[in-house]
Amino acid sequence: MTSTKTLHDGNSIPMLGLGTWKSKPGEVGAAVEHAIRVGYRHIDCASFYGNEAEVGDAIRTCIDEGVVKRDELWVTSKLWNNAHKREDVRPALESTLRDLKLDFLDLYLIHWPVALKPDVKFPRKPEDFFSLEDVPLSETWQAMHDAAAAGLTRSAGVSNFSTAQVDEIHEATGILPVMNQVELHPFLQQRDLVANMNARDVALTAYSPLGSSDRPKDLKGPQEPALLEHPVVTRVAARHEASPAQVLIAWAIARDTIVIPKSTNAGRIEDNLAAASLSLTEQDLRELAELDRGYRFVDGAFWCMEGSPYSWETFWG
Ligand code: A2P
Repeated sequence: MTSTKTLHDGNSIPMLGLGTWKSKPGEVGAAVEHAIRVGYRHIDCASFYGNEAEVGDAIRTCIDEGVVKRDELWVTSKLWNNAHKREDVRPALESTLRDLKLDFLDLYLIHWPVALKPDVKFPRKPEDFFSLEDVPLSETWQAMHDAAAAGLTRSAGVSNFSTAQVDEIHEATGILPVMNQVELHPFLQQRDLVANMNARDVALTAYSPLGSSDRPKDLKGPQEPALLEHPVVTRVAARHEASPAQVLIAWAIARDTIVIPKSTNAGRIEDNLAAASLSLTEQDLRELAELDRGYRFVDGAFWCMEGSPYSWETFWG
């Protein structure tokens, strides 16, 4: 059983969840089912991942077989960028609920502070975008809140938002997100963002905690540093007779951030869960703190093509 964190709306989220980004159809269902059977109580999903129907079948099997009750499970999903208009948010959430075979989500996030035209899944040209003047984040955020008020999700939050964007939607609507899910690992510690979210009582979820080395080639930089193989990470791991992945997961939890390592391998799914009981020492944390180099595995370059209304500064300031 992993520990939980209480969000500012009173709901409690398990600190460790199973990530499903990049988990392939034909594999993701078995991974989710195995994870729930061995004790995971938090599954992180998104419509964009293209695998929610299979995730939903696995969750349904576990509930039907009495492995878990719905109210013991935390399920997060995310609104894709092409459904940011007020009238499109609720239908997108209802479609995700149909895929997941659930009556409600525990958490629904705005996946990116980027709006795409409704028929565009991924942008290929500047005309595929709406600007944030066309579809303000506050419009999308108000619709997320309305969906929560209607009982479709227990909590609502954002992902990949800067502090300024969190403040913008808060000021415009009076509603503070409970969560900002962003990339966090020792190479990208984002201390300012973490401090700013802590000050506002907005929880953080760390995505790509293991460096997401299974990303498609066209989303990878030319010479990416290997997080799991870094000598400091392997040294700390050896000290605890733990795996490098366990060290990275324990590091995230030690910072009081929720963490969602992805795996479709049964052994690694179990290995990652066991990290919840690994306590890093002050010395370990000092050594890992030294690894910060502002390195993003997911840099959002795909939103910033020539002529797009979005630029690097939109995201990372
Ligand atoms: P696999 O799914 O085959 O286990 P992230 O969570 O940062 O996106 O990273 C996911 C990548 O890390 C995947 O390639 C996944 O492979 C791999 N991975 C997950 N758990 C472990 C582990 N315990 N040890 C090594 N690699 C892992």
